[in-house]
Amino acid sequence: MSYLKATNDLYRDAALTPDVGLCCTTNPVWQFPGLSIPRIMQEMNYGCGSTVSAQDLVGNPRILYVGVGGGMELLQFSYFSRQKAGVIGVDVVDEMLAACRDNFRQAEAENDWFRSEYVELVKGDALDLPVADQSVDVAAQNCLFNIFKEQDLRKAISEMYRVLKPQGRLVMSDPVCEVPLGPELRNDDRLRAACISGSIPVRDYIRILTDAGFGTIEVRARRLYRVLSPNHYPVDQLIPIESIEIAAIKDPMPEDGPCIFTGKSALYYGKEEYLDDGKGHVLLQNQPLAVCDKTAAALASLGAEIYISESTWHYNGGGCC
Ligand SMILES: C[S@@+](CC[C@H](N)C(=O)[O-])C[C@H]1O[C@@H](n2cnc3c(N)ncnc32)[C@H](O)[C@@H]1O
Repeated sequence: MSYLKATNDLYRDAALTPDVGLCCTTNPVWQFPGLSIPRIMQEMNYGCGSTVSAQDLVGNPRILYVGVGGGMELLQFSYFSRQKAGVIGVDVVDEMLAACRDNFRQAEAENDWFRSEYVELVKGDALDLPVADQSVDVAAQNCLFNIFKEQDLRKAISEMYRVLKPQGRLVMSDPVCEVPLGPELRNDDRLRAACISGSIPVRDYIRILTDAGFGTIEVRARRLYRVLSPNHYPVDQLIPIESIEIAAIKDPMPEDGPCIFTGKSALYYGKEEYLDDGKGHVLLQNQPLAVCDKTAAALASLGAEIYISESTWHYNGGGCC
């Protein structure tokens, strides 16, 4: 049985019987005016972070969401979009699409603003999206792509790149792991499907995004997700797995490489009013400026009186590039 078949089986079961411990996140349940998230959607929250940010949703964007789960994030996207088929939800598992459709009826009962027709649910595969080229502004997935082995992951990312309009945003949340996982874990199809053993290091994850052509990457959050202990898994040390929230923007690739924001800031502490590096970065004295890692390294190499902070892994826009 292929790991993709194991994945379909696991999520068919998780659609028929909600599995509260599957994936799971430390994010609080959204408390927005007029928004009620049905309990069943919370129980079927199979994500590991959030992909819904108001900052991505200005200008009436067309939104694609791949791997629908219980529909919680589709409801959250609809909260901002509020129009017929403003959000397209794609999933390969019939039972998950059916459960999501049922959950929307409960969401309609709890939210007078919501209509099921705000989301168009479509059967389809992340590896071959039933969506036209350059037709969406925001494409999202939460806790699905970590399941894919490298070749499929590259295919899934290239599909998202294909359907995004120029300057469109791919927003994602996935587990990542800095410690190499042994073959016993890697080849365990069920653990992979359950978002435990497919995780790769952040830098590899980002590299696959930039290889696909995304010119700007924003790491927006990074937090503990699971710890693999010898008590429960075939490991000989504690292995922390984190979840990241990340946005990849379909900007043209800069000639000197992608802009990757990991939450670094630069601050000029010299005696002049400001420092101009001659490359478009003006640092006012004692004012922090959010910079991408490439600019942080270039500024550090000037040997000037510039303090560069560590990555906070919490970048939410602004900055120099
Ligand atoms: C870990 S769950 C995440 C669900 C949802 N994103 C959430 O945050 O609750 C993975 C979802 O992807 C779906 N899925 C699995 N393989 C898929 C594929 N190849 N293409 C599209 N969806 C897939 C599953 O049915 C399930 O709904």
